[in-house]
Amino acid sequence: MSTDKYFQANRQLWDQWTKEHEQAPFYNVAGFRVGKDRLRSIELEELGDVSGKRLLHLQCHFGMDTLTWARRGAVVTGVDFSEESISLARSLSQELNIPADFVCSDIYNLPNVLAGEFDIVFTSYGVLHWLRDLQRWGEVIAHFLKPGEIFYIVEDYPFMRVFHADAETGLQVSNPYFFSETPDQVEMEGSYATDNRGEKATFYIWNHSLGEVINALITNGLRIEFLHEFPYAARAKFPMMEKGDDNWWRLPPQRGTIPLLFSLQARKDR
Ligand SMILES: C[S@@+](CC[C@H](N)C(=O)[O-])C[C@H]1O[C@@H](n2cnc3c(N)ncnc32)[C@H](O)[C@@H]1O
Repeated sequence: MSTDKYFQANRQLWDQWTKEHEQAPFYNVAGFRVGKDRLRSIELEELGDVSGKRLLHLQCHFGMDTLTWARRGAVVTGVDFSEESISLARSLSQELNIPADFVCSDIYNLPNVLAGEFDIVFTSYGVLHWLRDLQRWGEVIAHFLKPGEIFYIVEDYPFMRVFHADAETGLQVSNPYFFSETPDQVEMEGSYATDNRGEKATFYIWNHSLGEVINALITNGLRIEFLHEFPYAARAKFPMMEKGDDNWWRLPPQRGTIPLLFSLQARKDR
């Protein structure tokens, strides 16, 4: 199957998931409409004050995080390759009167359809494994960053994906950690946000090691300023995980800890 066919299947999936996510309690669009914040403590604390900053949000889904940054004063542009996602993002922006630009594009084609430089390039929670080529991803980030300004990502920790959860024995090493040109083919009903209720679909993902992520940025002229690791996740990645009062999900203490999220900030050379 060609990369293009993987791309088409994934884009179709995200169009379908967007319709399901608009109704999903996980996304709580009704709460967002009345002002509930969508961003989480990690990115809020680490990115700090964004007012007046030009922020480019890559793989923004239907834009609730993008619009939340706008509510906090950033001048935002959100990008996603799903037409359904971008159309819903634009309609939320209009309905709620939150100024934002949304561009429907494959991020690899973005330099051909979007002009300008940004103070912050932002991306988060479940983005990297949809991308085949991380070198090109790093190039796109560097292309849009103003010299001296920052790229920020908070994302699933790549090593977490090697595990399969077994009710008896806990976490078993079951999947390769390192990148392979041939993606994993996944069959699923519904999505992570709908408790696997919804239409059945097939999609394709690539694992990228943490080293690959870092090198894709370094080789494109970005300097890493921090890399943080967290033993918790934004949702239950394994069935035995428990939600804390702080809304983060953790493995029960007797299971030990592994990193479940990382955040990274990198600055483009002047
Ligand atoms: C898990 S979502 C990001 C979630 C987002 N942080 C949120 O909480 O809503 C991943 C997004 O990546 C988008 N995507 C996947 N591959 C893409 C590509 N090549 N170019 C642009 N967007 C892409 C999908 O359409 C989807 O909206």
